[in-house]
Amino acid sequence: MRIIVHKNKCQGHARCWAQAPDIFNLDDEGYILPGDIEVAERDELLASRGARSCPERALEIDAT
Ligand code: F3S
Repeated sequence: MRIIVHKNKCQGHARCWAQAPDIFNLDDEGYILPGDIEVAERDELLASRGARSCPERALEIDAT
């Protein structure tokens, strides 16, 4: 599974990080770092929760 990061939509809510701090990395100002995230199978549930928690829909789940 992959998380596609739409960096331009991020408003720094940090809810993704609150759910899964080891998966979602934020910069010093609390915005998601650019670049898609490859998620290991064991982390998929956590990563999905984090992605869905973003109120700006900045984190798109790519399950293919
Ligand atoms: Fe940004 Fe959404 Fe996370 S606004 S910091 S991607 S919860």
